[in-house]
Amino acid sequence: MRSLLFVPADSAKKLHKGMTSGADALIVDLEDSISPANKVAARASAFDFLKNTSAQKQRPRLLVRVNSLDTGLTDADLEAIVPGKPDAILLPKAVGGVSVTHLDAKLAAREAIAGLPENAIAIVALATETAASLFHTGTYGGASARLTGLTWGAEDLSAELGAEANRDENGRFLDPYRLARALCLAGASAAGVPAIDTVYVDFKNDSGLRRECEEARRDGFTAKMAIHPGQVAAINEVFTPTPAMIAHAKSIVDAFAASPGMGVVGIGGKMYDRPHLVRAQALLKRV
Ligand code: COA
Ligand code: MG
Repeated sequence: MRSLLFVPADSAKKLHKGMTSGADALIVDLEDSISPANKVAARASAFDFLKNTSAQKQRPRLLVRVNSLDTGLTDADLEAIVPGKPDAILLPKAVGGVSVTHLDAKLAAREAIAGLPENAIAIVALATETAASLFHTGTYGGASARLTGLTWGAEDLSAELGAEANRDENGRFLDPYRLARALCLAGASAAGVPAIDTVYVDFKNDSGLRRECEEARRDGFTAKMAIHPGQVAAINEVFTPTPAMIAHAKSIVDAFAASPGMGVVGIGGKMYDRPHLVRAQALLKRV
């Protein structure tokens, strides 16, 4: 998965458009993009959409962002959408692995009621949306077999911190959000799941988006969330390993295979040891 496009669940038009956006996944949103008055209608719309699309052969992965565990809305969200067989739930405002374990239990009960196989529905956690959550980003490992990704958010975090801005005048994240981003990356890696970069809200700024995608890939993120269909192509492009990257990774794996028992090899005047091999293998696994 390279691109995950947010689509407000109460917009039939955007849900429809999302299907042909080229996104690897859609995140049908029941949370922040839905007004309190529209929550009930949004659940029904999300269920209809899932029911009509989840059985299609060629389709993006379908995630649903439910309301956070502290809102009292999560159970009704799950009640409505689990029978529609989403591929995964995006859990906002997660506060460490315990939040994921909590959601896991809720899903287990509802999967059984809906007659779905155990662990059919995966979980992706939004790990940095509250101040407290930053201190729990290292606790996701072993929280649930459902956990398939960690991502981060700067909007709710900046509101909670009382900040005036989360980006500088050049559009780059300020220190508190760079910390959140790094904690997400380390937390995901420690838990053995992919790290997914946050949204770029300035959706008309193509060069800014591309820069942020490239910086995310450079640092180890393997995907990015989008808020507008116009962002999908650039995200897919940047997070697709290039032929040169694949060839380079192959050359590292081949060099180690050709010298069994060697801990270090030289290729083109550069040294490669275990961390390089691990990185090359991870890239080839993604391809
Ligand atoms: N998914 C699917 N379709 C979308 C879309 C999305 N996220 N965002 C926009 N579109 C559609 C529009 O409906 C419009 O369709 P049309 O050409 O058939 O009229 C087209 O793409 C162009 O949209 P545009 O006019 O450029 O944007 P907008 O002003 O309609 O919408 C936003 C701007 C920000 C409101 C919209 O992109 C959006 O809802 N994004 C997702 C918000 C969200 O889920 N936030 C929560 C996570 S942070
Ligand atoms: Mg939010």
